[in-house]
Amino acid sequence: MCGIVGYVGRPESLQLLVDGLARLAYRGYDSAGVAFQNGHGLEVYKTPGKINDLQKILPAPAPSITIGIGHTRWATHGAPSTVNAHPHRAGAVTVVHNGIIENHHALRETLAENGASFSSQTDTEVIPHLITRYLRQGLPIVEAIQRAVAELRGSYALAILHEGTPDRIFAVRNGSPLVLGIGDRGHYIASDVPALLPHTRKVVFLDDGHLAVLHGDGIELKSLEPLADLPLSGRVVSVDWSPSLAEKQGYDHFMLKEIHEQPQGVANTLREWIDDTDRLVEDLGIAARVRDLRRLHIAACGTSYHAGLVGRYLIEKFVRIPVAVDIASEFRYMSPVLPKGTAFITITQSGETADTLAAQREAKARGAATFTVCNVVGSTSSREADSVLYTRAGPEIGVASTKAFTAQLAALSLLGIALGVKKGKLSEIEFLTLKLFLLELPRIMEQALQTDSAVRAVAATLVDAKTILYLGRGINYPVALEGALKMKELSYIHAEGYPAGEMKHGPIALIEEGVPVVFLATVDGLHTKVLSNIEEVKARGGRVIAVTDAPAAFRDRADELIVVPSTHPALVPFATVIPLQLLAYHVAVMKGCDVDQPRNLAKSVTVE
Ligand code: AGP
Repeated sequence: MCGIVGYVGRPESLQLLVDGLARLAYRGYDSAGVAFQNGHGLEVYKTPGKINDLQKILPAPAPSITIGIGHTRWATHGAPSTVNAHPHRAGAVTVVHNGIIENHHALRETLAENGASFSSQTDTEVIPHLITRYLRQGLPIVEAIQRAVAELRGSYALAILHEGTPDRIFAVRNGSPLVLGIGDRGHYIASDVPALLPHTRKVVFLDDGHLAVLHGDGIELKSLEPLADLPLSGRVVSVDWSPSLAEKQGYDHFMLKEIHEQPQGVANTLREWIDDTDRLVEDLGIAARVRDLRRLHIAACGTSYHAGLVGRYLIEKFVRIPVAVDIASEFRYMSPVLPKGTAFITITQSGETADTLAAQREAKARGAATFTVCNVVGSTSSREADSVLYTRAGPEIGVASTKAFTAQLAALSLLGIALGVKKGKLSEIEFLTLKLFLLELPRIMEQALQTDSAVRAVAATLVDAKTILYLGRGINYPVALEGALKMKELSYIHAEGYPAGEMKHGPIALIEEGVPVVFLATVDGLHTKVLSNIEEVKARGGRVIAVTDAPAAFRDRADELIVVPSTHPALVPFATVIPLQLLAYHVAVMKGCDVDQPRNLAKSVTVE
């Protein structure tokens, strides 16, 4: 996510802003910039790259400032570049923004028709132009901001400078976090608490729909609709987090924070296209090919490969065309056959995985249309593919992928229903029904997160396990693979995912007294078969842990039950994967493993 900082008060070094941005670096970013008053006007410095790249272009020694704002950008619209970095200016208004303005295309067109000229490809740049338009109509700055943000759709946290009121910072929050800091020498703004801790522990978490006006002597708080003053007292809290804990927003590890961010990541990914799947097919450049589209071929690695396997079930169900799924490191060397009418999809959180990039290049060289499901704007995969379907999970810091996985499933679900409608395989009622189930997913996932205490109890019994089997059928088979991967890479316990129906073809020889077997046992037409598999394991002394949405059906068969909410049979992975992520997390913590940086692993495998 982007990071915002701001300061207004007695003279302080410009370094205060830069250091604040550095404390937000964990949020992930690809550009950085600052804007500050220097007594004879506003100065703006911004650059792609890291904070030390920004440091290199700043005045040295650092000047003293009394007011300024800073930003670290996580690109969502427009690749990392100087022109796309924040702050963005129009007229006398300078803005930094965290979030996504969903209606920026329409706003940009209207503003341009009225003479506004844009220099960036960002959604953000419409904001200073909107405010300037209202200022030019004679509105005071606060009313101009109020009218401008009323036109925005989407999420935004804003810090705004106006050269007509050079001693104030204006902060607005709607859907993206913004925290105010009350200090002895001045007042602060930040996207997150860590940037404030060196200066103050007295903070105000700005609410959605609120505007704060910060100056050296205090903070005015206002509601925006209607525009009205609000009392600040009663909203000030004292934060006692350590800087490290603050970076994880109170969670012990980034991975746990990211597991809990999954409902939001899925909601953000769906929101972009769920009401306009036609435009998704157009935007991906598939619309022209839909008629000739005969098959899809997916290549990915690790967790992203497992997402591809789930995607196969979804797309074959909704679109009725064959979907091949390969591990990218295998695909690239198998002299693959890509028949005419094949669309090639890579799935990659980082967009930098060497094997996945090689597979994408191989497919492109063989004439296939390529597109990528990717979480990082401007990454190599997103630049080299013919088109991109972005997941909106935000930066994933934990090496073990969690929120990216479910965001990938959301993207693949969107693709499936969009193509299903386009190819006439999904009726209007089927489409609308699926859409309703998709929109329910964040709530379903929040419920699945409530299994944490039950999962923690099961985890305590697995700490000394020598091996763990994960079994599932149908769309739950890839979830079994993903659950086993999480357990392996986090707790270093050998774990293996298998199709439940495959047990009798060999793996059942592994079952002996006490061997733990995790079953994905949701009611999806295959659960009676799963019940038989459970009996086979029990008969040989195995210990059965069932993740199910039908406790009554499994209560007297399983040794442990983890109950998840029901959803559409094609969408159960959104619910069943969460307890498996939590299980691996808790076993790893109980074993004292390094959860965020497991041994031998890298977040992005950029070499073969
Ligand atoms: C997942 O927990 C692993 N860290 C790893 O398997 C990862 O999914 C794989 O390396 C692919 O990464 P990508 O999605 O960035 O391409």
